[in-house]
Amino acid sequence: MEFVETIREDELANGTSKVISVKGKDIALFKIDNSITALGNSCLHKGGPLAKGKIEKKYDGFYVTCPWHGWEYNISNGKAPPGYDEQQSVFDVGIINGKIFVSSQPIIYSSKKKYDSPLKDLIELEYQTTTNSLNILGISTTNMNDNLKRDSTSEISLNKALSYSKEKYKSSTVLLRLRDLEFRHCEGYYSINEQACTWPCSISEMDENDGMNEVYRKMILWADIVIISTPIRWGNASSLYHKMIERLNCVQNQTTLHDRVLVKNKVACFIITGGQDNIQHVAGNMMMFFTELGFSLPPFAFMGWSRGWTAEDMENNVIQFSKSRYINRSVKDLVDNCIKLLHQIKTNPCKVVSSPQPKIVDAPSKIKQD
Ligand code: FES
Repeated sequence: MEFVETIREDELANGTSKVISVKGKDIALFKIDNSITALGNSCLHKGGPLAKGKIEKKYDGFYVTCPWHGWEYNISNGKAPPGYDEQQSVFDVGIINGKIFVSSQPIIYSSKKKYDSPLKDLIELEYQTTTNSLNILGISTTNMNDNLKRDSTSEISLNKALSYSKEKYKSSTVLLRLRDLEFRHCEGYYSINEQACTWPCSISEMDENDGMNEVYRKMILWADIVIISTPIRWGNASSLYHKMIERLNCVQNQTTLHDRVLVKNKVACFIITGGQDNIQHVAGNMMMFFTELGFSLPPFAFMGWSRGWTAEDMENNVIQFSKSRYINRSVKDLVDNCIKLLHQIKTNPCKVVSSPQPKIVDAPSKIKQD
């Protein structure tokens, strides 16, 4: 077995780890109780750097926790915690004259067990749309206390749109109310490393019951048309809307990382209601985000409702709204335009969608200077 000289033993403090390179391979060195061990640095999950992980005594020994999503490895033998079968690669270590020598090949090779993932349909992108499907997903992003029920103008409009599409076009419809889905906030794995923001979402992998999984399934796999309704809150879409779209970073991110557009041949439109104004601002943000995911927008892609800057008499808002001829007409117009566009798209659907978005290869650090 060939050994390669690396760093001096005193360059690795007790209780710490360091990454070194041996014949082009990144290896994580660990020193605990003055004993040095070496594991492959790249986490078996998505390649997170183990040398940057936290080292702790737990289970049956000392473990390192991957800083990306928390996979753990015993630093003395590379094994996953009891009950798991993953094995990280382990390299032999020798000390000669205070220098650390590491074997150029592993003495134990890595292995990763294949599990039947409950997210298989998302991983394999098992789309449920067909050339004839007309699946319309409504997503209501208003928040309210269901024990103190009240009328929501955004949700009423959304329900009208779904009912109309069912009656006139015999569409299949699903309504998701974000307030009914328990889901975690985006935890910003992208900020650690763009590869750490995964599809399916890293949080979904950690928790198959996370409520966003229903949004991913219905929005990405099932829907032909997505109608999103929001109230205006301080001039913006609702906080639940923002909570949802942060978790959709993993959809957009596929374009950046892998030039893989998950959303193709789908249409989106928006319902935006508030007591006061700012409809166009909210619409601009929503339209931008959904085109970033790959959705197509119909002409006049949103309808809105507000009564103006001085409309502080909110007790009259729902009454005025329910009397409005505009609401009944505009939700129908919105649905009609979406369905017309969908028909056009379905007569000549895109197999490949080019995206002019920045890709990881365009990042300044990836560009080779001539
Ligand atoms: S836990 Fe290591 S990359 Fe995900």
